[in-house]
Amino acid sequence: MNKQRYALKVPKAEKITEEYMVDEAFLIGLCRLEDLKTHEQELVRSMLNEVSIKTGGISWLEPLNQLFDYVKNKIVDGETGRDRHLPSALEGIMLLSKDVPPYIRRYSPQWVKDTDFSHTTASLIYTSDICKRLHLEDELKKIVMSSMIVHDCAYPKVGGYEEFTSEWCRKEHMESAVKEFQRWAAEINRNFKIKRGKEYYTDRDIEQISKIVGQHDNPSLKLDFDYDGLDERLIFIHREADRLWMLNKAGFALDLLREIVEKSRYNPKARLQHVIKDHQEESEKYKKFSDKCEKYNNQPTIYRTWVGFNSFTELIEKIKRDYEIYLE
Ligand SMILES: [Fe+2]
Ligand SMILES: [Fe+2]
Repeated sequence: MNKQRYALKVPKAEKITEEYMVDEAFLIGLCRLEDLKTHEQELVRSMLNEVSIKTGGISWLEPLNQLFDYVKNKIVDGETGRDRHLPSALEGIMLLSKDVPPYIRRYSPQWVKDTDFSHTTASLIYTSDICKRLHLEDELKKIVMSSMIVHDCAYPKVGGYEEFTSEWCRKEHMESAVKEFQRWAAEINRNFKIKRGKEYYTDRDIEQISKIVGQHDNPSLKLDFDYDGLDERLIFIHREADRLWMLNKAGFALDLLREIVEKSRYNPKARLQHVIKDHQEESEKYKKFSDKCEKYNNQPTIYRTWVGFNSFTELIEKIKRDYEIYLE
């Protein structure tokens, strides 16, 4: 059965618009960006609370939840820069797109605000899921969850897609996130020392988290990861949970919207093929632990945990169903 599609009118130049027939799944995906910022908070907070308690914290607000709040405020207060132009671009589109259901026309520009926060929330859910199913030790969970909370909290303000995927921006957002974490960890450690008589993060914790955050986007700079001093599973889990976002309902719709706005195209099938190829080609940059890469269509992928790989294949199937995509 054919699914409902809607006409989006996109302003180009004065009095010129382009029309795109978009899938219902695309609009649902945009709505999901909002769910991640609102309804999913309880889930994320209880996951963070559980790890905090098992690693030395004792109450709801300490300490991973505090870090999460810190990052949330930093992103929502507008200090970071990715996608800042998207709400007004979508508002312009929705004003012209009379065919779209009224509540979507009205509220969707809000949904695409603070997209780094939606991404962080979704990636934390994937991180927790992978950690749980791999029975990762609590102390390692603390390291990888802390890294995921802060990893994208410090994108510099940029004008658009080209700039935020530039080498400069990739490096800058990793280095700034490390500084943010170190500043925050020093503060939480001071508070912990006063209240509990001992620090929450050891020097080695801080070193490991800084190392993960400081190189989390290395493959985008055509570099392999440096595993020295780290349990390699931490790098696998962080990268996989970060990349699964591209196939998440919300993340996939967000990339389609970026493509409409910035590249004048809407093509879910081409987008899906691009993501699969990207997740295969990245494995070519892996010099170490490349033998662990799970294969999809006989090609190695970035996925080196079976949990991450299962999520990868399941999400691909979901997108194919939702967007009625047939891949040969
Ligand atoms: Fe990043
Ligand atoms: Fe990320």
